[in-house]
Amino acid sequence: MKHLETQINKLKLPSHLAIIMDGNGRWAKQKGLLRAVGHENGTKSVRLTVENCAKLGIKNLTLYAFSTENWNRPKLEVDTLMKLLISSLKKELKTLQENKIRLNAIGNLTNLPEKVQRELQEVIAKTAENKHMTLTLALSYGSREELIQAVKKISDKVKNNIISSDAIGENIINEHLYTHNLPDVDLVIRTSGEHRLSNFLLWQVAYAEFYFTDVLWPDFTEEELYKAIISFQNRERRFGKTSEQIS
Ligand code: FPP
Repeated sequence: MKHLETQINKLKLPSHLAIIMDGNGRWAKQKGLLRAVGHENGTKSVRLTVENCAKLGIKNLTLYAFSTENWNRPKLEVDTLMKLLISSLKKELKTLQENKIRLNAIGNLTNLPEKVQRELQEVIAKTAENKHMTLTLALSYGSREELIQAVKKISDKVKNNIISSDAIGENIINEHLYTHNLPDVDLVIRTSGEHRLSNFLLWQVAYAEFYFTDVLWPDFTEEELYKAIISFQNRERRFGKTSEQIS
């Protein structure tokens, strides 16, 4: 493990890492356990990954914790996920403070149970001054919904002569997304062998690198994180230019 960590170039870290944490259910099924146990073990990977990203010096980590589509799961499972969220927020406040991590949340947060909203707002307020890393939880998040609300806000401003339609460009759109205070995503990791984006940060991943692993989220260790970052660092990001222009 140490061996892999030493291969990471601390000067070439992704400034924004986004993770689609997938496979909790399958992990549990393989072991003959309830899906809830899979999610519980998923929270252990969350904690480990947050700590290791902070230790490496990654400035922005975004985790897809609950999508707008996840509301369609059985009520019992939704309740379990909400309970886990509340207990993790309570439990991890100390870790966030110790590691100087600011908590942020994106998504249609008003759809979350009030208890979750309250806990979330409390941790967000208490960690607001932390500067080492921003941890963003995508909760009740859907990228198309995010884009729709941005278009609505922008068109309201145009209608009320606050901005002219000529001024609409990438900056204006960025400013109206839930992620307005975050840089573009550099690296997306998805676990569990699925090769999909599932309505996650569609605009923000325009130039991101993708890393897919068959490992199920509860088995995602620091070693897996390091492998993903090393793979990212070995790629040439050309942003549409030629190889020669980059070097
Ligand atoms: C995907 O596994 C995972 C989720 C839908 C939720 C992720 C939530 C956690 C890791 C726990 C709580 C989060 C935090 C931030 C404390 P899946 O259920 O889709 O797995 P499957 O595809 O194998 O069924």
